[in-house]
Amino acid sequence: MNKPRVDAAVYAARRARLLRAMGEGIAVVPTSPERIRNRDSHYPYRHDSYFYYLTGFTEPESALVLVAGAASRAILFCRERNPEREIWDGVRHGPERAREQFGFDEAHPIDKLDEQLAALLENQPALFAPLGQDPDWDARAMRWLNAVRAKSRAGIEAPERIHDVRTLLDEMRLVKDAHELDCMRRAAVISADAHRRAMQATRPGRFEYEIEAELLYAFRRQGAQFPAYWPIVAGGKSACTLHYVSNDARLEKGMLLLIDAGCELDGYAADITRTFPIGGRFSRAQRDVYEIVLAAQRAAIERVAPGNGWNDPHDAAVRVLAQGMIDLKLLAGSLDEVLEKETYKRFYMHRTGHWLGLDVHDAGEYKRSGLWRSLQPGMTLTVEPGLYIRAADDVPAPLHDIGVRIEDDVVVAAQGCEVLTAQAPKAVDEIEALMRDAREAG
Ligand code: GLY
Ligand code: MN
Ligand code: MN
Repeated sequence: MNKPRVDAAVYAARRARLLRAMGEGIAVVPTSPERIRNRDSHYPYRHDSYFYYLTGFTEPESALVLVAGAASRAILFCRERNPEREIWDGVRHGPERAREQFGFDEAHPIDKLDEQLAALLENQPALFAPLGQDPDWDARAMRWLNAVRAKSRAGIEAPERIHDVRTLLDEMRLVKDAHELDCMRRAAVISADAHRRAMQATRPGRFEYEIEAELLYAFRRQGAQFPAYWPIVAGGKSACTLHYVSNDARLEKGMLLLIDAGCELDGYAADITRTFPIGGRFSRAQRDVYEIVLAAQRAAIERVAPGNGWNDPHDAAVRVLAQGMIDLKLLAGSLDEVLEKETYKRFYMHRTGHWLGLDVHDAGEYKRSGLWRSLQPGMTLTVEPGLYIRAADDVPAPLHDIGVRIEDDVVVAAQGCEVLTAQAPKAVDEIEALMRDAREAG
């Protein structure tokens, strides 16, 4: 797997911020375990997002330990070099090289972690760890604490307080730094390119998995390490199944294709949805629905600006979608009634976005003290309204089984926002022109 470029100063600055936020105590942030897929084959390895945020280190069997206070320091625990294993599995950094290249104050073999933690925690007031994330690590933390408590008659004190280190890290991760925004812009450009490629490759008679293959090819050949989540390639009524991933049906002329796909590049996710006609031209009914979703998305993006509340883009999208449902005769009543009784939820049942970053549904609280939080420059989110119209007796027949979602990734700027995924076409004429040109080219 191609490794991200590592700028040690970026990670050192994040560790310094966390150390300041801790004030005192010890933090332990382990990476993810390797997972068996079947018998002795593993799933492709993906590091833990919190650990990576603080280290840039992608090897399994590693943990970061931070000692806060006057003599603060950052210690990496990782696998030792092992010439025999490296023949099979590839090169390992080993503690010494990891310390030099990644800028830690100390590095030690992972086998020494338990012994060293029991010593490091002596007379410390607090332990910060990702509690509840992994039962094995929770049990390990209790063993360290008990090992310190066992020395109480020698006058050694054990930490009194245990904090979830993720509470501090989630707040840090919510506002992206320049390095993160650079990764996210690059992930967005690759993902937008993959959507263009998918539109160009779509023809009646092809199968959804063929289009999935185009997306995965476009991600990987441009250096993305993974898809950020498994692509949704949903023809026709499957678009109304929000988490459809079987991607195995034949694409029929006259239907729409909804694609929700984004890559993960150097740890950061993109998340784009586009919906377009398999035959290259929208029908009247498809276009009517599509234009409502597009107008809702544009209204929501307008509301992404510093100082606006998290919910403002959602509220703006819901108003446009609800009016559209009334105009399409999907719902009866006034706009106020539809909003008040939330009858629009029959056709728009999800929210308009989520934080985006290292995780596709990224870290960070949406409310604080009961209020939706204010948007600030550097926050990154998706804007993804949709309309999902399942066939039913009370639904006008031309609208049956039309599902449309349009999703872009945006970063809150000094004024308004920057749309990271603008290179994926979404205006009706742009999409139709791209597909026509592709068909004419063969
Ligand atoms: N692709 C996941 C989402 O849109 O939230
Ligand atoms: Mn999304
Ligand atoms: Mn998505």
